[in-house]
Parts: sequence; structure tokens; C-alpha cells
Amino acid sequence: MNIALIGSGGREHALCQKIHESKLSKNIICIPGNAGTAKIAKNINLDFLDFKKLLKIIKFNKINLVIVGPEEPLVKGMVDFLTKHKIKVFGPNKYAAKLEGSKAFMKSICKKNKIPTAEFKICKNKKDVNNFLKNSNFPLVVKADGLAAGKGVTICKNKRQILNVSNEIFKGKFKTSKKLILEEFLKGEEASYFLIVDKKSFKFFGSAQDHKRVGEKDVGPNTGGMGAYSPAPIINKKLEEKIIRRIVNPTLLALKKKKKPYTGFLYVGLMIKNNEPYLIEYNVRMGDPECQVIIPRLNTDILKIFNNALENKLNKMNIKWKKLKCMTIVLCSKGYPGKYKKNKKIKYLNKLNYNKASFIFHAGTKFINNELFSNGGRVLNITSTGKIFKIIRKNILKIIRKINWKDGFFRKDIGWRVIQK
Ligand code: AMP
Ligand code: GLY
Repeated sequence: MNIALIGSGGREHALCQKIHESKLSKNIICIPGNAGTAKIAKNINLDFLDFKKLLKIIKFNKINLVIVGPEEPLVKGMVDFLTKHKIKVFGPNKYAAKLEGSKAFMKSICKKNKIPTAEFKICKNKKDVNNFLKNSNFPLVVKADGLAAGKGVTICKNKRQILNVSNEIFKGKFKTSKKLILEEFLKGEEASYFLIVDKKSFKFFGSAQDHKRVGEKDVGPNTGGMGAYSPAPIINKKLEEKIIRRIVNPTLLALKKKKKPYTGFLYVGLMIKNNEPYLIEYNVRMGDPECQVIIPRLNTDILKIFNNALENKLNKMNIKWKKLKCMTIVLCSKGYPGKYKKNKKIKYLNKLNYNKASFIFHAGTKFINNELFSNGGRVLNITSTGKIFKIIRKNILKIIRKINWKDGFFRKDIGWRVIQK
């Protein structure tokens, strides 16, 4: 099969690698891809949100299947557009993508179906905000309704902060958000639970824990994710049964009732409090960097899985996992998630010798005249597998030291929850 993969992050490099290893894959194009995907696929530099141009490229390259990595094209209806033009594509339709694209939509599904989540109020104006504040305690969480590239959530300590953040959102700080959600702050342990879904059923697709704050000990502003590991030991069988029964089943049923079931990933973002799961957010794609720690553990041909999903046959297959643990640490450009410089040379990557258990997934990288340069905030994902998280992390840190990239930084404490000192 000829495959087109949409996106340019570490998630897409990990997916690309697995597709490359599939017996069913022939040519792969990445739109736009990064320096890592350039070695195993053809990168095509195109604004993928220009759906008409994208369609031309897909037809020209005789693509048999399109796989969409990031959320923005899903929320903007790429799948509906390509399907209308008879292109096979793996990913949710625009309606189902609202699970991620509109927090108000997701919360309304929770309310109608009694799905456990933080208490909340959808606010359309200042009056709504003031009304909610009359009966609530702090901290409180303010969320912009629409996509905000990880910047739409603020945990507020007092009324003044709530009013400031709310005002900014109502004034249009995030273009797609005219509404906001005020919600109760949940204290607990966060974990991510992944499924691959088709129009009839779904299959488990790994668990992971991310580290969203920029600084060690989980301090500082939120990022896209500074590192992750899989599996997440907090998700045991009993908890998993609750997640499926109370959260996943009612959500997928609600989409079916609207005649909008979908094919794609479902990322269930959870807060676990006293062994009870609460839904914090849905995403309708793989996580980044969670994908980079789940994919190396997958032991079934990924294209076979995508094909079965598109034929609604997931219930007829067995997805196998390696009995390995995996961790990734993200090497970022200095300054991220604030301002940072691009085009900084990364000198020593080609000279590295590492064993089969370790991989480097590229994110914000590019080649200029065969030399490697940074091209984003999150630059490289140093990833390693093994049996013991403590040893895995040691191996990753060794590799990072060898890369010795002076313009970058990383967190040394990824996995602190699962690594005893
Ligand atoms: P989201 O964009 O919904 O993933 O939120 C970003 C981060 O904010 C989450 O990963 C949590 O760490 C935090 N967060 C969001 N909602 C809540 C909540 N209700 N209680 C506590 N923390 C939250
Ligand atoms: N790592 C968080 C996300 O992909 O949304």
C-alpha cells in the first residue's frame, strides 16, 4: 500500500517507523514530515490545511491510505473532505472530532450520559462566570472551548485571576473559542488511556503517563509534553473496567445515536482519584509524546490494524504487545514553551552508537545540506525500552549526554512516579 501520513512531530516519526516496518507498506509520503521521516519516507512540504492541494498530491502519488496525526486537520474536517473524494482515510469525522475540538461539546456528552468528570459550567459571558463563582471554591480551572495548542487551560487561585483569564478568552485570545468552561479542580494522578475504535467496536491501544509541565518536579508552564512512559502502572484491570463502562462505552454510544461513529484513535485523558477515573479531556488522535512510548511496544502489523479498523473488523483481531516498558525524554529548544530560536545545528547525532533497544524519534528537525538543524520547540525524543524504568532512564540520559546539544534542555526526572530513588 502507498501511505500518506499527515503531521511533523515525534508522534508522526514513530508512526512512520512502524508503517515502514509493515509488510503491507510500499511508498510512504509524509506531509510535511521532519528530518527523521525523511530517511524512511518522502517528505512533501505542503500546508495540509489546504485540502484541495492535499487531494492533488494524494492522487498524484497514488495513495491507498491517509493517516492523520494531529488534531487540527481532524477538527477542520479533513476526513470528511477526503472521504467525499473517495480517498481512504484513518481518523475521525468532523462531528466526532468535536470530542477534542470543543470542550463544551465533550462536557455536554458527559452530562447527558452521567460520565464522571469535574463539575462544570459552560459560560458564554461575564454574567455566567460571576454566577458560577458565587458557589465555588478555589482553585478553579478555566478552559477555552476550542483548540488552543495546549495553552487554553489555566488553573486559577482566586476570583481576580478567573476574571482576567475569562476576559481574555471572551475578547478572542483563542480565535476558535467564544465560550469557556469553568470547572472544579480535581486532585489526583493523571494518566492517559488509548483505544483504536471503528464503527462497531474498539481495542485497547496502550496506556501512558506524560509530564506536561516544563520543569522538574512538575513546575512551570504547561508544554505539549516533556516525556512519557508506558505502560502506566496506575491503570489496573479493575480501573480499566470502570474506564470502559463509565466513560468510553457511553461516549461511543452517544456518537452512534447521532449516526456519527468514527474510525480512529481515542485518547482518554484521566484524573485518578481514590481509584476512581474522572474524564479530564478527550483527544481523537494519539498523544505526543505518548505515541512514541506506545508504538515501540506494539507487536502487530500497524497497517493490518488500520485496515481492519476501516473495515469495522477490530473485534475480529488480536492486537499484541511486547512485554517491555518504554520511556521517552523530549529534548527541547532553550526557551520552550516560550520564545525559542530555530535553525540551531545539532552536530553529534549521526556519530551516535546505540543498541537496538533505543530509538530517536525526531520532532522539530530538518536537514539543510545533509546537516541536522532544529526546527521547533520539541526537537528530539530520546526513547528506550527495557524491563526496569530506572535503567531505561539511565540509558536515555546517557544518549542525551552524547548528543551534547548546547541549545537544548530536558527534564532529568521523567518517570519519577515509577522510579524509586
Ligand atoms: P487539557 O488541555 O484539558 O489537557 O488540560 C491541561 C492540563 O490541565 C491537564 O493535563 C491537567 O494537568 C490540568 N487540568 C485540566 N483540567 C483539570 C481539572 N479539572 N483538575 C485538575 N487539573 C486539570
Ligand atoms: N501529550 C499530550 C497530548 O498529546 O495532548
